[in-house]
Amino acid sequence: MAATFTAVNAQSKKKQSIDSKISSLIKKLTLEEKISLLHANGIFSAGGVKRLGIPAIMTDDGPLGVREDVKEGWGPANLTTDSATFFPNGSALAATWNPGLAYRYGHDMGEEARARGKNVMLAPAFNIARMPLCGRTYEYYSEDPFLNARLAVQSVKGIQSQHVAACVKHFAVNNQEVERGRVNVEVDERALREIYLPAFKAGITEGNAWTIMSAYNKLRGVYCSENDYLLNKILKDEWNFKGAVISDWGGTHSTVNAANNGLDLEMGSNPPYKTYYFADKLLDSVKAGKVSIKVIDEKVHRILWVLYHTGMSANLPKGAINTPAHSKTAYDIASESIVLLKNDQHLLPLNTSAIKSIAVIGDNATRTFHLGGFGAGVKARYEVTALAGLQNRLGKTVNIKFSQGYSGAYKSSGSFVNDETKGADPALVEQAVAVAKSCDMAILFIGGNRDYESESRDRKDLSLPFGEQTLVDAVTAVNPNTIVVVVGGAPYNISQIKKSNHTIVWSWYNGSENGNALADVLTGKINPSGKLPFTFPADLKDSPAFALNAYPGDNLQVDYKEGILVGYRWFDTKKIEPLYCFGYGLSYTSYKYSDFQTNKKSYKPSEYIVATLKVKNTGKYAGKETVQLYVSKIGSVVERADKELKAFKKIDIAVGETATVTLTIPVKDLAYYDVKTSKWIVEPGKYKLLAGTSSRDIEQSSAIEVVD
Ligand code: BGC
Repeated sequence: MAATFTAVNAQSKKKQSIDSKISSLIKKLTLEEKISLLHANGIFSAGGVKRLGIPAIMTDDGPLGVREDVKEGWGPANLTTDSATFFPNGSALAATWNPGLAYRYGHDMGEEARARGKNVMLAPAFNIARMPLCGRTYEYYSEDPFLNARLAVQSVKGIQSQHVAACVKHFAVNNQEVERGRVNVEVDERALREIYLPAFKAGITEGNAWTIMSAYNKLRGVYCSENDYLLNKILKDEWNFKGAVISDWGGTHSTVNAANNGLDLEMGSNPPYKTYYFADKLLDSVKAGKVSIKVIDEKVHRILWVLYHTGMSANLPKGAINTPAHSKTAYDIASESIVLLKNDQHLLPLNTSAIKSIAVIGDNATRTFHLGGFGAGVKARYEVTALAGLQNRLGKTVNIKFSQGYSGAYKSSGSFVNDETKGADPALVEQAVAVAKSCDMAILFIGGNRDYESESRDRKDLSLPFGEQTLVDAVTAVNPNTIVVVVGGAPYNISQIKKSNHTIVWSWYNGSENGNALADVLTGKINPSGKLPFTFPADLKDSPAFALNAYPGDNLQVDYKEGILVGYRWFDTKKIEPLYCFGYGLSYTSYKYSDFQTNKKSYKPSEYIVATLKVKNTGKYAGKETVQLYVSKIGSVVERADKELKAFKKIDIAVGETATVTLTIPVKDLAYYDVKTSKWIVEPGKYKLLAGTSSRDIEQSSAIEVVD
């Protein structure tokens, strides 16, 4: 008790001393200097008051790693010091279901940001995957608010452990790229609170994120960058956010409204910075009495507060770029993210002693993913392609022959990404078929790429681009030992492949160690443990936003008609069979679940449900299994999803061993958001707890009761 008290006391003293330092600095700043802290003065920089020793606020993109430096006009600065580790994309990280890896990702990226003198990393990004076509799905995590929140908190903590502020983005409901700068989102309050805000709330209140980025779009008729409800009421009042709200680049639309409604720092891409809403116009508005000095001082306080935790903090760590530990983190995330979708003939793991030759086919086998499309990328120190990974691991004993198979060159324009390549290239297919015929087996690397999935546009549909289906069919026809590896950051329609092929692996834009991780999964050094962080619909029209004609909106307005039924919540409640369900992923081994129990049968809202179960590894390989715990309300007074994820745990189990898994759910997490009273309500009555290996493979269940 005494120790805790001392710690709390020390913390509040530290806070007081930062607050009093900030207050005395504010007294020394002229109004012009204060305003200079509130708007950009370069593509990624703002502020800085030399005479008082206040450094500039240096920001940089995430989330794939620390972006290369750019010069005015966004061209590369061509430095020799700005390369970085390329970390797996957001949905890859989510597919690991491993919050510990999210912390390491944040920590290592923070260390690289620190080494490059950045104060704010514009990451993590975790808007909900409301519909599968969003061009930034690959940057984001999941369709599920709980998985989203658990990863967000750890990413934030990791980044900030290096005295670099995380900037959680994009706040809020930025769920499509089409018309993102103008579209108005109408979403009911319950869906906003239960689906779209939880990860932001957790990132702020548990992760303690020091900055947040307002989204480009409008919410209920008001731009997010000047949205009093989002920024002042929810973020600053309800969640007690102490840090700074940063606009998205060029996402500010007014001076007085934005200033009074909660925006703290205006960023953007193009000079002259004097013309920004928060530059001379803000100064004029203060002089005209439209924005008070109190409001300005509060913003300056927030910005200095961020600086005192970052560039102005005592004992700043030095940071380091692409250390072996960072490469190991990239490798661990990649190897835990790869999802085994189908292995009907047990072709995987490869029996390498019996294989003499492999045809490696497809543009994605040699393509890198650290750069591409529109938006943030990383100048990777290195990136191991799939082909290089297989050569690294098998090159000495196996004859590996490569054939490109298709061209993934893609130049996007307009709002929608559309496959304009008009099918397969017959010459490339013919060459691939010849190579496939001459080898013991073929591994196809197909899917999207970083030009095809891109910020600022959405895909037009879920189809595989570049004539890939034709290639898959042609290669499979001549070599029965064909494995299909699909690479992408979002769902694609691979139903034809699921029907016709026996072995399918899903991989991602998987960072610097991509190829090594892939080769290790294929050869069995790593037993796959990735689980899908979103539903793969069998048909786009099964997906809620399409079933309800609620995307991309009419007259620049999109109504989230599906309400709380996003992702698997929709598919399960409406009993629609997806192609692959949320949480799905196979292993080279098998697990048996048993002995599911809860510590009690009846709980008060203030209590915790402690559930335990046994998981036995009944197969031939050691493995990692993610136990997923869903909850279903029996006979609810309000609309509910068929089930909701409330806890999960990833565990390592040796061959033949049985692990006892404990999962804890605070009963308050069973609450729904009551729109009438604006309160979270834990409804008394019966609930079913469902423990499974995916959202649709429920192995054990138990009922509990909540009493008032
Ligand atoms: C993106 C942000 C990004 C910013 C700076 C914007 O277009 O929406 O996510 O941080 O650009 O690159």
